[in-house]
Amino acid sequence: MAKVLYITAHPDHPQIDSDVCNGWGKLSSGTPFNQLKQEEQNKLNRMGELVDQFVDADKYVFVNPMWNFSFPPVMKAYIDSICVAGKTFKYTSNGPVGLLSDKKAMHIQASGNFYAQGGPFAEFEIGHRHLKMIMEFFAVPSFEGIFIEGVAAKADQAPAIKEKSIQYARELAQKF
Ligand SMILES: Cc1cc2nc3c(=O)[nH]c(=O)nc-3n(C[C@H](O)[C@H](O)[C@H](O)COP(=O)(O)O)c2cc1C
Repeated sequence: MAKVLYITAHPDHPQIDSDVCNGWGKLSSGTPFNQLKQEEQNKLNRMGELVDQFVDADKYVFVNPMWNFSFPPVMKAYIDSICVAGKTFKYTSNGPVGLLSDKKAMHIQASGNFYAQGGPFAEFEIGHRHLKMIMEFFAVPSFEGIFIEGVAAKADQAPAIKEKSIQYARELAQKF
């Protein structure tokens, strides 16, 4: 059975902070992992777990609200954990090559306004396009989007907008 990984804007995704940078610096100058500070070990271990879990899954469902035209910062922290050479991509003499060509991905994003292609705000949307680029970088061949749009701009229609998105999600789920 395919393993589906749901990725949400979870507050526990480690950030690349001074512990992580200091840990990386010490490792690259030869310090053994078990001699890093406990907090450095904990954060690097968790980032390693996240990328291993990502590689181990077959299908990804990213879910987030739009915040200021993108996903919340903890989702970016997650992306920072999974962009690892040798795990999700590798460097070759012809440049980087993605390693996840047998996966599928879906992105569910809710927003207060409308960002559909061809509309006046299409270019403002950078969260879905950022994730799309990351999936392409990893060579994930399939990336669908479900956009629950306009829940603030048309607040009176929010229940209908959500219901329509649920129906669409059910349709996509049949072939995901
Ligand atoms: C901090 C913050 C920033 C937001 N930024 C945007 C935005 O840039 N564009 C937009 O259309 N909606 C924006 N919204 C609205 C949310 O995307 C919207 O409320 C949410 O997706 C709806 O989910 P809910 O029904 O669970 O509240 C923002 C909301 C918050 C709290």
